[in-house]
Amino acid sequence: MSDFQEDLFLWALENIGILSLDAKLGCFSRRDEVHALVSASQDAQDAVIRTEMSANDMWKKVPNLAYSKLIRSQNTLEKIVSHHLNQNRENTSKSKRTVFRQLIENENASLKDVFTIILDLFLAGIDTTSFTSGFALYFLAKNPQTQEKLRKEIKKFLPLKTSHLTPEMLNSMHFLKACVKETMRLRPVSIGVGRLTTQDIILQNYKVPTNVSNKTSENYFYVLAL
Ligand code: HEM
Repeated sequence: MSDFQEDLFLWALENIGILSLDAKLGCFSRRDEVHALVSASQDAQDAVIRTEMSANDMWKKVPNLAYSKLIRSQNTLEKIVSHHLNQNRENTSKSKRTVFRQLIENENASLKDVFTIILDLFLAGIDTTSFTSGFALYFLAKNPQTQEKLRKEIKKFLPLKTSHLTPEMLNSMHFLKACVKETMRLRPVSIGVGRLTTQDIILQNYKVPTNVSNKTSENYFYVLAL
């Protein structure tokens, strides 16, 4: 079988479209048309790392290649998200409590807020899900006994092809949860959380002063997710 990471990427993108826009992007049937979206999303990921983690913030004053790429990719994403957002704002069935409808109907959120959240979901939800799924499938393929045990658990809850997965079932599928956690332990897609201290804090006897973050190189500080 050839490399199917690209397919997992499209699958994650399709899911984010349904979750955040109530839209079927048709990632598999319209591969060529969604190509711009896929490239924009990958370019945005790459550019965020190169700007956010760069040793200095010069790119904020003089746009460098990474920043220009970020702008270009965000513009492409903006066009696609705006199109679906405008189309689905009125159309979506009001009875369906989708994530998209909850965002749109939130009185505390302006349209600009909703737009920003959706763009964030596109940025945060695609690489994370597709790479983690890819690694999970790889580890299961390398460990047939584990794969068989997981298959039995899934079959117990979903005996038929037509069975529907519910949140309650997911909660009870302990071995599945363990497999996902072990995958993320072995191949963490996100290595930590960035924080800017808003006040002096003591962490295990180390004093961390106010206004220290992982972005200021002279005060390099990164809180790893424990
Ligand atoms: C394997 C899957 C995922 C992993 C390991 C992961 C990991 C993380 C981590 C470590 C953070 C930073 C948290 C912090 O700084 O406190 C984060 C933030 C975030 N993630 Fe994920 N994530 C995953 C999937 C997703 C998906 C599927 C979505 C959206 C559909 C998503 C949306 C977000 C958003 C919006 C934030 C920013 C939250 C904020 O700043 O308040 N993530 N994620």
